[in-house]
Amino acid sequence: MTKGKIEISWKIYSRKEVDAELNKMIEFAENQLVSSYAPYSKFNVGTAVLLQNGVLIGGANQENSVYPAGICAERVALNSAAMQYPDVAVTAIVIVASKKDKMISPCGICRQVLLETERRYGTDIRIIMVSNTLVYEFASVKDLLPLAFSDENML
Ligand code: THU
Repeated sequence: MTKGKIEISWKIYSRKEVDAELNKMIEFAENQLVSSYAPYSKFNVGTAVLLQNGVLIGGANQENSVYPAGICAERVALNSAAMQYPDVAVTAIVIVASKKDKMISPCGICRQVLLETERRYGTDIRIIMVSNTLVYEFASVKDLLPLAFSDENML
């Protein structure tokens, strides 16, 4: 028998410490909150996806009375980016919620979609989670989804 161990790393900044580029992305994500449609959970999520060409694409969660038909902010933005710029890599995603006391962490399905996006373009995606005081940054979704299933498993 052998044992394994997985280590992940991240950076934590105070909101005051973030640079101008990241601050612009956070503000862009916060501006998406008005487009959130969340009458059931009342939990509004906004996101900004940064493309390699510098374009920012927004997203907000869209719920449905048939709950599983709802979609998270992250996938709204990632799908929108894939439609508008299918040949441009995604390099970062910022996630914010209207409830700002805790940072917001992407769900398992969104992590899987982020992983597919990293593999599609061969580029890591910085994952940035924001609360009203702190900003958490992960260098890649691989840190959030260890031992993930991907196309590699089907080869
Ligand atoms: N939600 C997101 O949009 N992103 C996340 O990272 C977590 C959860 C949405 C889905 C649903 O509309 C609401 O938040 C409550 O789960």
